[in-house]
Amino acid sequence: MSFDRSIKIAPSILSADFANFGAECEAIEAQGADWVHVDVMDGHFVPNITFGPATCAAIRPHIKGVMDVHLMIAPVDPYIEGFAKAGADIITAHVEAGPHIHRTLQAIRGAGAKAGVALNPGTPATAVAYLLDMVDLVCVMTVNPGFGGQKFIHGQVEKVRQLRAMIGDRPIHIEIDGGVDPTTAPLVAQAGADVLVAGSAVFRGGSVSDPAPYGENIRAIRAATTA
Ligand code: DX5
Ligand code: ZN
Repeated sequence: MSFDRSIKIAPSILSADFANFGAECEAIEAQGADWVHVDVMDGHFVPNITFGPATCAAIRPHIKGVMDVHLMIAPVDPYIEGFAKAGADIITAHVEAGPHIHRTLQAIRGAGAKAGVALNPGTPATAVAYLLDMVDLVCVMTVNPGFGGQKFIHGQVEKVRQLRAMIGDRPIHIEIDGGVDPTTAPLVAQAGADVLVAGSAVFRGGSVSDPAPYGENIRAIRAATTA
């Protein structure tokens, strides 16, 4: 994985057909997705349950590009090895998931993956101030994690601006997760984000048998950031 700050659209398969993940991953990549965002939830750290390392391993052969795994689980550490072995390129853990995020990030890189750290809406940018030399990505949650289709929390845009200044020249992606659509994407792109996760705004109107709307939706989000 090479680093650049161009806008990358990362559809979240949380909004895909759960009976058809492989075909959905192939469809979104064929329609222009840059990364595939995989939301792992445990029913404990967040009030919803999705899937684990076995599902990630099963979909990995259907993804040509970056598999971006967002862990909304606590504890995190016992499962890092499993997600790395499943083929995750990036593993992101929440700063709120436990008392030892520093150790968790070391473990992610130690397992051979890029390390991401995610911030819930109530967590300030300064929570990652002493982690910046050990991460490849900071994920700003612009909804409370747990569900797709929620409303973008506008107050988070200022946090993105702060993080962009804190990051400076470091090769760290800023990822936005939650409520991204053609209206909100330009706000976070201008503030310094380069990876835009989008679930409902990418998958709406399309399906594996009619994937063209995925492409239209991806292009609409990307175009909004350059308008
Ligand atoms: C929320 C997840 C997001 C979510 C985004 O907990 O981390 O990735 O799927 O979905 P939308 O784009 O529908 O807000
Ligand atoms: Zn996510």
